Amino acid sequence: MPTHAFDALNDPAALERVPTPAYVLHEGQLRRNGELLAGLAARTGCRVLLAQKAFSNFNLYPVLAPFLAGTEASGLYEARLGHEEMPGGEVHVFCAAYRAQEFDELLGYADHIVFNSPGQLARFGPAARAAGRSVGLRVNPECSTQQGHAIYDPCAPGSRLGTTRAQWDAQMTPELTGLLDGLHFHTLCEQDSDALEVTLKAVEQKFGDVLPRMRWLNLGGGHHITRPGYDLARLERCIRYASERWGVTVYLEPGEACALNAGFLCTRVLDVLKNGETDIAILDMSAACYAPDVLEMPYRPPLLGAGEPGELAHTYRLGGPTCLAGDVIGDYSFAAPLRVGDLLVFGDMAIYTTCKNNTFNGMPLPGIWVMRENGCIERLADFGYEDFKRRLGR
Ligand SMILES: Cc1ncc(COP(=O)(O)O)c(C=O)c1O
Repeated sequence: MPTHAFDALNDPAALERVPTPAYVLHEGQLRRNGELLAGLAARTGCRVLLAQKAFSNFNLYPVLAPFLAGTEASGLYEARLGHEEMPGGEVHVFCAAYRAQEFDELLGYADHIVFNSPGQLARFGPAARAAGRSVGLRVNPECSTQQGHAIYDPCAPGSRLGTTRAQWDAQMTPELTGLLDGLHFHTLCEQDSDALEVTLKAVEQKFGDVLPRMRWLNLGGGHHITRPGYDLARLERCIRYASERWGVTVYLEPGEACALNAGFLCTRVLDVLKNGETDIAILDMSAACYAPDVLEMPYRPPLLGAGEPGELAHTYRLGGPTCLAGDVIGDYSFAAPLRVGDLLVFGDMAIYTTCKNNTFNGMPLPGIWVMRENGCIERLADFGYEDFKRRLGR
């Protein structure tokens, strides 16, 4: 599949000035993603939220804010961040289970609160309603549209995410149903709108009797809307179908699509070695620490100027300096041999990276920089020994 991870990078040489390791976020690409999402909202009447679990570099929320209806949060801290850093935007929260001691504070930040089960709805729904919040239930349409990725499939058998129709029938009393303003489902991961179309049919089949009583329907995330080639027309048909058929306001809460291809991870070669036939380069970045999805998804991140193994003259296995044997980013080929100090630039590194990294092995957290639309590169944050130590004790 062609990668568009570097399309926005007009001046790669500018990255030579950034001390590595560093994430460099790309303002222009964020804005372009935002514009595309705003166009979708304008044409269909849907409302698009930033899922902060994927991208929560709040210094850049002002770039996205004009294009979005607000933020989506996975719990108290993200809800507070969205409330503080995207002022005026809606704050929606979904959490598989809320903690009683946090709920009052959460009510101070959230506009929509989505519960995972009838039990959670019974426990917290009345307080949310009394506080004037819009209340929703996440449903599980039991419709898997992705293969071989059970960890990313909320519809996998035995999933803890979302209320199935059987659970609904067993537990939803008229009082509980009466608390609801909307339904929510999230079942996709990096998918096109054909998967949404299939899922929407399953939602209709399972919950079509309930939907006319709702004011909104949240289609979750996993829509790869800003990926070149994504079938936007089909997505728009799905949104119009839902809003017309059930009279609901449709929400989408993509994370990836908001910040897709809008960041780079800059790293330098620390050592070059050879084991048998395998040429290896050790980098000043770690997949396990800085881009954990490389190992968890797993996937092979795009690397500027590099090819598939064997495609160019010199193939290397790229890995991190940690003790983890599997801390390997992948095998890549280069036109020239790698040398200590060479800069490597991985693409599509704004999502599920800065918000998911860690300091395993005492790895320093990379600095966070932004490449502005005028080409200037500014430092947003840097980290040191104290950031590592403070997470471990006082
Ligand atoms: C409830 C919910 N909404 C939105 C998202 C964002 O998904 P993505 O970043 O794939 O668009 C997720 C991701 O796991 C999610 O669990």
